[in-house]
Amino acid sequence: MTEVKKIVNQLHPLERKLLPLLKFNNIQSEIVKNSKLEEVEITRAAQWLEAKGLVINELTITQTAKLTDHGRKYLEKGLPEKRFLRTIKNTILNLEEIKQKAELSNEEVNACIGLLRRNNYIETIKEKEAKFKITNQGISVLEKKSDEEQLLEKLKDGAKTEIFSDKDKKIIEELRKRNITRTDENKERKITLTKLGKEIVKEKLDVNLIENLTPEILKNKEWKDKEFRSYDVKSQVPKLIGGRGHPLQETIDYIRTIFLDMGFKEMEGPLVETAFWCMDSMWIPQDHPAREVQDTFYLNKEGKLPIKELVKKVAEVHENGGKSGSKGYGYKFDENVAKQLLLRTHTTATTFRYFGERNIKPPAKYFYIGRIFRNEAIDATHLPEFHQVEGFIMDEGLTLRDLMGYVKEFYNKMGINKIKFKPTYNPYTESSMEAYGYNEQLGKWIELINSGIFRPEALEPYGIKVPVIAWGLGLERLAMMIHEQKDVRNMLGATSDLRWLREHKVTKKW
Ligand code: PHE
Repeated sequence: MTEVKKIVNQLHPLERKLLPLLKFNNIQSEIVKNSKLEEVEITRAAQWLEAKGLVINELTITQTAKLTDHGRKYLEKGLPEKRFLRTIKNTILNLEEIKQKAELSNEEVNACIGLLRRNNYIETIKEKEAKFKITNQGISVLEKKSDEEQLLEKLKDGAKTEIFSDKDKKIIEELRKRNITRTDENKERKITLTKLGKEIVKEKLDVNLIENLTPEILKNKEWKDKEFRSYDVKSQVPKLIGGRGHPLQETIDYIRTIFLDMGFKEMEGPLVETAFWCMDSMWIPQDHPAREVQDTFYLNKEGKLPIKELVKKVAEVHENGGKSGSKGYGYKFDENVAKQLLLRTHTTATTFRYFGERNIKPPAKYFYIGRIFRNEAIDATHLPEFHQVEGFIMDEGLTLRDLMGYVKEFYNKMGINKIKFKPTYNPYTESSMEAYGYNEQLGKWIELINSGIFRPEALEPYGIKVPVIAWGLGLERLAMMIHEQKDVRNMLGATSDLRWLREHKVTKKW
């Protein structure tokens, strides 16, 4: 079979009908008028033909400006501003009189006064009540047709906006704001035959091929003297979109496997915490600024403190350093402050619960991926509710070098290889260290992780005598980097980009 014959055999009945019409006319709306084909049928056939390389579709959008009902009324009776001026052409009148004579509504009058004053067409005379007098400029505009009026005439039967000058377009836009004109958009498809298309049109197209094999066709042997339409295996089919995990959940799952592979155990803890576990337990001072309501969401309730001996030990390190060798903060520890319930601001609360409640012995490696809350305004890189990836390692002889090694290893596994470290400050770690990752997409270094070695004051109440290296990182920031997103709101919540969520391949870099 020749190439041409092959294509002819694949044509759908709608394509067969449309093709010959294209010899005479290639504007969709005109084909609709002059044929029995419906608009959707033409659209579909044109798309199929384009996929086969027989036509090229071009969509053009034309705007037509028309008069609204208001506009029609004004065309007949004159624009409100002209009517206003006309009533005071030879006399001075008050507002009520003008309204009646010119038959203007309150709204129309109010809109007019502003416009007429701005152009110096009227002046106000203050007597007992305000009266309006026409100016010389006002009289001269009454004598000729304004640009607006001329446009109203031109738009009487609607006109394509493209024919107007920029100045006229501006006026039309002004009139549109005043609900005098309206702009309709009209999409037009131009369907042009390609070289191949022109050849196909020469063929005999109105053949009746068998589209579907049915029992009837088999029974009455119709197939014997008819041809079947061939399959076009290259034709486009609708996209099927299946369900999938949220990219952020897939990121969480991947991080979990990294830590489990490295021999870490997973922690779990409550979202609602006492200030004790979230702050006091790790020697964050009771007057620390991060405790303020601007940063932390408090609940209007108190929670329970752990066993007395532990609270006492924690109170002591705050007050005088206890047995940690430190002088402490030198204030009186307030249990009421520690009892306050809040939405946890970091997952380190859970780390310290494990220290206080589970008697963890070295060597130990734990991690946790949990939701946390901070009183922050939402923007491209901030959310009031997000996830932290927390971890700690407790063992003899651990140093900052080990911490750097683990952090590097973790990020390498996440596909981020450019990392640098910087000293920082945390009340509960010494040394403290931040790591930055280079974000190729934004072209800058982004803070990725906060970490350190827990201080003796933080560990003393739990009887932990060996070094504990620990870290906490914002999951959403990391996910943004990996998934090349500039705005976290594209990934999450009501404004997330559904197409991205459906189609984004999470495993690209891993
Ligand atoms: N809790 C710290 C934060 O929220 C992270 C951290 C955890 C730092 C453990 C040091 C040690 O930023």
